[in-house]
Amino acid sequence: MALPEAFLEELVARSDLVDVASGYVSLQRKGGRYWGCCPFHNEKTPSFSVSQERQQYYCFGCHKGGGVINFVMEAENLPFRDAVQLLADKAGMSMPEEERNGGGYNRRQRLLALNREAAHYFHEQLMTPQCSHMMAYLTGRGLSRRTITNFGLGAAPAGWDNLIRAMAAKDYDKAELLEAGLAVKSEKGRIYDRFRDRVMFPIIDLRGDVIGFGGRVLDDSTPKYLNSPDTPVFNKRKNLFALNLAKKSRQGRIILTEGYMDTISLHQAGFDCAVASLGTSLTEDHAQLISRYTKEVVISYDGDQAGVNAAQRAIGILEKTGLTVRVLQVKGAKDPDEFLNKYGPRAFERLIEQSGNHIDYQLRQLQGRYDLAKDEEKVQYLQEAAALVAALDSPVEREIYGTRAAEAAKFSPAAMAQEVERARTQRNRRARKQEQRAALNPVSELQPKDRRLRYQNLRSARAEEGVLRLMERDAGLFRQAEGHLEPEDFSSEFLGKVYRLYREQWRQGKEINSTLLAEELSGEEMDQLMTLLQRPVTISNGPKALEDYINIIHTEQLKRAGGQSDETLLAYRDKKANGGAYL
Ligand code: UTP
Ligand code: MN
Repeated sequence: MALPEAFLEELVARSDLVDVASGYVSLQRKGGRYWGCCPFHNEKTPSFSVSQERQQYYCFGCHKGGGVINFVMEAENLPFRDAVQLLADKAGMSMPEEERNGGGYNRRQRLLALNREAAHYFHEQLMTPQCSHMMAYLTGRGLSRRTITNFGLGAAPAGWDNLIRAMAAKDYDKAELLEAGLAVKSEKGRIYDRFRDRVMFPIIDLRGDVIGFGGRVLDDSTPKYLNSPDTPVFNKRKNLFALNLAKKSRQGRIILTEGYMDTISLHQAGFDCAVASLGTSLTEDHAQLISRYTKEVVISYDGDQAGVNAAQRAIGILEKTGLTVRVLQVKGAKDPDEFLNKYGPRAFERLIEQSGNHIDYQLRQLQGRYDLAKDEEKVQYLQEAAALVAALDSPVEREIYGTRAAEAAKFSPAAMAQEVERARTQRNRRARKQEQRAALNPVSELQPKDRRLRYQNLRSARAEEGVLRLMERDAGLFRQAEGHLEPEDFSSEFLGKVYRLYREQWRQGKEINSTLLAEELSGEEMDQLMTLLQRPVTISNGPKALEDYINIIHTEQLKRAGGQSDETLLAYRDKKANGGAYL
């Protein structure tokens, strides 16, 4: 069932895109547009723009674009209905009747409700005598009652179907538990609890919904942690443990850890800005998410080689979002949790203070890799260090870190500075080459990024795009096109579809509003539509331009038709006979 159009129109009218987008990026007004760093790809200089007047966003870097509904779909990773629901909640509108009694939105809500019930159940179990050993385990690791409650920690008792039975009493069936990742099916088809005899860590998203769980064994058996699989409501690559708490922190940074227990211990010790990735290495989505809430990240991974490698990777990913990255080195303990238990919060505070800029950290790693007593290795060190320092944008920073790197290998700072300049020239040359290559390739520029939308006939497609640009600005031109241009005339099925949808809006006496096409167009189609609408309209005479475009489209159509008896060709001649003006 499609949502009533009137409802969508009101929703879109009530949801100002500048307001909504401001919740994700900080926007600055420049001329008629708002600009900020794109929430959909990593960048340091703003290429994401929102037009308040047109209620559209477009990123000149990654070419994503759309209206307010698309924005929410993209930013929250939600399907159309759920994005509409979210905006409706915000705007204080209730969903049309039939929506509330079925459909995707309901299914999602039900999964979330089930997860919440399960979290309650686990938490209650933790308080029972049956699970006292689990409670003892947690308190034995130094967690207070208050922390246990704060994080909603729980216990999955031993046994095969405790949760299944408890949830059945609340009217959730096995299929739903399977879908939520709370139950698993054996090869023989038997369905049983996924989490058995484990302490449970609920994972809560930014809206406060329980979206999944991690469960830890009490002994040395494996796997140590079992996590919910990805489900319709849970995606490890897009969520961070405890970000729901850390986003409220006033400490001005995020401490990024590898483990549930590290993060929980940090919170208990007063570092309420700690988060953990969920048993996956850090993703670009994670970095993006973090950069919405803070400007500085302190990577606080385990001290072992695996931790060092993971930190190196994370630096690269975080740096791309423009975050200031510092790397903390845990000393005398294997991870932050153990460190806190051994040395206390004040000592951890000092680790944070000592934690260097990531360049510092990388230089130190580099120094460890080369034997600086050997000339040959010294030269290699010099080159690699120079490349690192050359990546810094600020000359002052280049000077500071360049000098530091030189001193470590007993080079003169001047030699290092020279090497850094050389590395910078190389970087710049490479960047310029890339730009030139892109500029030399205008045809590929015109082609949609998504392969499935590729234009077969570029000449026609350009004219078709031109028609859409004209119509979007002046729907009155449809009067002129009526009877002369049909969606079927378009060489690109996609562009023809947009033409048809625009025309429907015009026929209903409305202004053209691309934002309302969020349901009919795929995300890729919407991105491409926004891309083509961004191209400037330089033509002053709309009716004349339309006539020219229609001519091109028909000429190309004729070429495609090739033979004389083709149906399209006949249709085309009819048109010529009726309209005349278009040849
Ligand atoms: P660690 O083994 O460092 O976990 O794994 P930890 O938090 O320090 O755990 P404790 O102190 O032994 O209780 C780091 C993270 O990797 C994921 C978990 O998210 C864990 O917090 N992990 C680890 C898994 O998903 N599965 C595993 O089997 C192990
Ligand atoms: Mn640990």
